[in-house]
Amino acid sequence: MEKIAIAIDGPASSGKSTVAKLLAKDFQFIYVDTGAMYRAVTYLAIQHQVAFDQEEELVELIKNYPISFKQTVDGQLVFVNDQNVTEEIRQTDVTAAVSEVSAHREVREQLVRIQQELAKQGGIVMDGRDIGTTVLPDAEVKIFLVASVDERAQRRYKENLEKGRESDLETIKEAIAQRDYLDSHREVSPLVQAIDAVKIDTTGMTIKQVVAKIQQVIQEKGYEIS
Ligand code: DC
Repeated sequence: MEKIAIAIDGPASSGKSTVAKLLAKDFQFIYVDTGAMYRAVTYLAIQHQVAFDQEEELVELIKNYPISFKQTVDGQLVFVNDQNVTEEIRQTDVTAAVSEVSAHREVREQLVRIQQELAKQGGIVMDGRDIGTTVLPDAEVKIFLVASVDERAQRRYKENLEKGRESDLETIKEAIAQRDYLDSHREVSPLVQAIDAVKIDTTGMTIKQVVAKIQQVIQEKGYEIS
């Protein structure tokens, strides 16, 4: 498989990371979860008692605590410095504040630079909100995944159950709708579909079907899947 870049954008819980991971594994590409990076900064802010509106201090955190990924047999782990924060960045307090943190221009500039560096060699699947529009505007394949709020809330609720985390469906629904609004209405790199992205509505589709659909898009663009 040619070492192309695949950008997968879409709202919260649209299934981006699940399908991105599967595609990366299939093609032996690097997978980069950019949401995890914004979550890591938010986690650092909470740990260091930096207010979410303090842009300069947030940027200092990014400079002082490098964010990295490690591939293991148990999946991809997220680190800040030497600390494994893979679990912590999924907690409710981080999720509730991440849209505010990720709205800052300088925070985005710092992280976008790291993301572009990670993608330099090609052979990458990157998921987020602004990959096709800002981070990798020249990506060979751009996918925009959407699904209804109800379905996304159900998926998140089931995932929580499986992981033994307590949660409430209505609260999840409200939080998803709120995050959709904030992510799509921010001034810097809002969540929008790139003009050359292929939109896939995953409502009612299985993960397998979504992966197959993306593979079909890749093939239709003339890349051979081996
Ligand atoms: O994909 P996720 O839910 O883990 O992302 C967490 C938040 O990070 C999301 O609400 C918005 C922000 N984000 C962003 O602004 N740009 C990205 N490329 C990825 C995520």
